Amino acid sequence: MTPTRLEITRPDDWHLHLRDGDALASVIAHTAQRFARAIVMPNLKPPVTTVAQAEDYRRRILASLPAGARFRPLMTLYLTENTPVEEIARAKASDSVFAVKYYPAGATTNSDSGVRELSRVHAVLEAMQKHELPLLLHGEVTDPDVDIFDRERVFIERYLLPLQARFPALRMVLEHITTRDAVEFVRGAPANVAATITAHHLLLNRNALFAGGIRPHNYCAPILKRETHRVALLQAATSGDAHFFLGTDSAPHPREAKETACGCAGLYTAHAALELYAEAFEQAGRLDRLEAFASFHGADFYRLPRNRERIALERTPWMVPDLYPLAGSTCTPMRAGESVAWSLVETTTP
Ligand code: NCD
Ligand code: ZN
Repeated sequence: MTPTRLEITRPDDWHLHLRDGDALASVIAHTAQRFARAIVMPNLKPPVTTVAQAEDYRRRILASLPAGARFRPLMTLYLTENTPVEEIARAKASDSVFAVKYYPAGATTNSDSGVRELSRVHAVLEAMQKHELPLLLHGEVTDPDVDIFDRERVFIERYLLPLQARFPALRMVLEHITTRDAVEFVRGAPANVAATITAHHLLLNRNALFAGGIRPHNYCAPILKRETHRVALLQAATSGDAHFFLGTDSAPHPREAKETACGCAGLYTAHAALELYAEAFEQAGRLDRLEAFASFHGADFYRLPRNRERIALERTPWMVPDLYPLAGSTCTPMRAGESVAWSLVETTTP
């Protein structure tokens, strides 16, 4: 029988888009209510490429937190072909930057400054391997000749395997994995390789993109895949394997930027992030493994202490609003106008 209450160590979100300015102020509370820390993506316009920029961004995040919130943003740098090798030592020495994000140029929202040719960043990767600074990978090829549903698998074959052979000790996180191929690669990899999994890729397959008509709010990068892949992700997330941990990839966009002829990629899930993961774990009959996935594996990989606070969920359904404010506009969240089975109850200090 499903328990009606679930209390776990307060979790962390190891892949999050917080945006900036008024949009940041609109979304930050949802994350801070649930998570103690989050790895904050650097794909702002312009991207966060230096430690100095990351520290400024960190201050803006802290300034936008609601009064009394205890939330720690963990910053990342956006890797470009012009990133100086010395920036890696600076990042490692800082107490604010925890990883470097690799976007193949053009793969997703605000990725134009990303890497076109991996060989041009080899010296930087060498430094990251030496300093043990994790590389976070958006693992998709951008080659328009490759079918969009195959872009993750082809990335693993074409780029990830050679990268791993060249930098065997590099700490890497394959972000927001979406395929059985990625699950198998990561499961078989040594402990310096890990993966994040989103709630939406655990709960939705690609049919959700076309349920009765085109559904722009379910469009994200990497795109939703077929059911066999969703099942493989759910199995991996609930397996207890420490290679896999929580990363929401919550990525808010104004409604009008998604409901248009060429809509942006990204699902907003921060408003119900942990609750949605609980649904997925319940579906797999493995609620007992949510805590390790959400609160232990990521902290262990990043070599940060596990949180001591606790958080409780209750099996009480609630209705997600049709929209949330987002800067001067609105954002349509995942499950808009529908129910989520679990609700957030409270947090307690030890
Ligand atoms: C992200 C965004 O909007 O910043 N979009 C998404 O679909 N996940 C970028 C990203 O992580 O790919
Ligand atoms: Zn992302």
